[in-house]
Amino acid sequence: MRLNRLRRLSTRVAHVTSPIYYPNAKPHLGHLYSNLLCDVTHKWKTLNKTQSLFTTGTDEHGFKIQNASEKNGYKDPKLFVNTLYKEFVLLNEKGKINYTRFIRTTDEDHIESVKKLWELCWNNGFIYKGEHVGWYSISDETFYPESKVIKDPKSPDKYINTESYNEVSYHSEINYFFKLTAFRERLIEYINNNPAFIYPESKKDQILNELKNSNNIQDLSVSRPATRLHWGITVPNDPDQKIYVWFDALCNYITSIGGIDKLKNDELATDLLHQPANKDCTVHPSKTWWINTTHVIGKDIMKFHAIYWPSFLMAAGLPLNKQIIIHSHWLCNGVKMSKSLGNVVDPIEMIDYYGADTLRWFLLENSQLEEDGNFQEEKLYEAREMFVSKWGNLINRCCGKKFNISRAVSDITSKQNPEKYIKGQFLNDVDIVRQIDSIFEKLNKLPQIMDDKLQKYDTSSLLREIWGILFDANTLMQHSAPWKMTPTQQDCIIFICTETTRILSILCQPIIHSFCNKFLDKLEISKDRRSIDYIKFASDKSYGLNSNLSQKGVPIERVPKRQL
Ligand code: MSP
Repeated sequence: MRLNRLRRLSTRVAHVTSPIYYPNAKPHLGHLYSNLLCDVTHKWKTLNKTQSLFTTGTDEHGFKIQNASEKNGYKDPKLFVNTLYKEFVLLNEKGKINYTRFIRTTDEDHIESVKKLWELCWNNGFIYKGEHVGWYSISDETFYPESKVIKDPKSPDKYINTESYNEVSYHSEINYFFKLTAFRERLIEYINNNPAFIYPESKKDQILNELKNSNNIQDLSVSRPATRLHWGITVPNDPDQKIYVWFDALCNYITSIGGIDKLKNDELATDLLHQPANKDCTVHPSKTWWINTTHVIGKDIMKFHAIYWPSFLMAAGLPLNKQIIIHSHWLCNGVKMSKSLGNVVDPIEMIDYYGADTLRWFLLENSQLEEDGNFQEEKLYEAREMFVSKWGNLINRCCGKKFNISRAVSDITSKQNPEKYIKGQFLNDVDIVRQIDSIFEKLNKLPQIMDDKLQKYDTSSLLREIWGILFDANTLMQHSAPWKMTPTQQDCIIFICTETTRILSILCQPIIHSFCNKFLDKLEISKDRRSIDYIKFASDKSYGLNSNLSQKGVPIERVPKRQL
């Protein structure tokens, strides 16, 4: 109860996490997408003066890495991951993803944290030693219950599981077990009492259904014999066993905000609303970050995050994080991406050709949490075309030699009520007044709409709203033909168009920072007036001094279709 009250109080603090990726191959488009959702959330919160952290990283232990490292001829898996993790760092750099910590599970402070988490669960009696006999999938690194195992239709002497359809084989070994069964009912109760914990709702229902059938929930094997798995964190006080890679990986979310000990012992800060923004995670007790932590993950790993992870936390006597957001996957031309089909999209290749902002916008515009997105290069090309023709071109037209942005800005912003003044110039033209009214209304509502939609990760409908306003401004420019008007009327139309592009460019910085800043540069918006304090209509009282000089170039260049 107390935590919930504090969660409400501390809305000015946020921590968003991406999954941490297996550095067993180069990153693909799906990896960029998870990070992009986190990056936009983090930058949106920061723009809105919420103190925000965004952590991402690489999941470097376990069989997957051990095997890939061997296959690639490495004797030491650490040397293998040391090479590959850099690909993820590079992708973030190229994709303009700004995290506050890149965590590697081989980092010393993380290893420490995992051991502490283990000890807490052990000391509280939720880990025990036993024999594990069952169906194990090497690629998923998990055991599956008998009820989820079938013969492989393609090869009858093999077995697969019905969740990931990866191969499973029958195994027996000594393991440590986690008493997952002890948390089934507590978890159902928690999710029912905190309906926003798992989002979207359809995924919450799926998890609840999974939990309600007690056959699905069995105690979980959380260690592997060191003889089989060398590459992992050693179980405290038992050198013969290595910690299960998911127990290790999930703990990254706590390491990245200070570690288990801090989370366990820190007091909550209650005076957050009064503190200035600061990215340093030591500024707040880690519990304050933790109860405001959102995990963004793909649908294939929701069981680990929505069933195992909260159970580990409850077993350790730690509070649960705030929320889990589950997104769908990216297909390529309607087909699942896979190495064997040769259709895996390389995000870096796309960024190098079309630019990071084009790819970022395309991914957000063409995805919905609950439906798989479809990558088509043609659409990426079209996305860039739209920027050039609708957003860039509107600015270009305002910057034409016939107009005078700077005069329009200083005249209109000096009026007591600029909106009323502008409408007063078109009393004989109801059509123009109607169009102007609609733009004012949409611009005024946009910040709240953005906040609501980003809260729900509903990016495609958000970007539709933004295009809607740009289309309206383009139509106004085209239909009203300001070049034929008196200077006063002309200034009004130009001002509405520059204000539309100015406000949208400030608000969209978290999404397409470089494009927005090129637009703002072209309008000569001072660098210190690109913040949330300047998103109201007519709030920036001086800009555009040299914007109408003809020698200035277009803000964004066209990119030709790529010959494939
Ligand atoms: N290491 C684990 C996560 C541990 S988090 C404590 C893992 N790594 S992964 O590299 O295999 O996948 C990471 C994320 O990428 C997952 O959220 C997964 O859903 C996402 N994606 C994998 N393929 C994807 C697409 N085709 N499209 C979108 N996301 C995809 O699982």
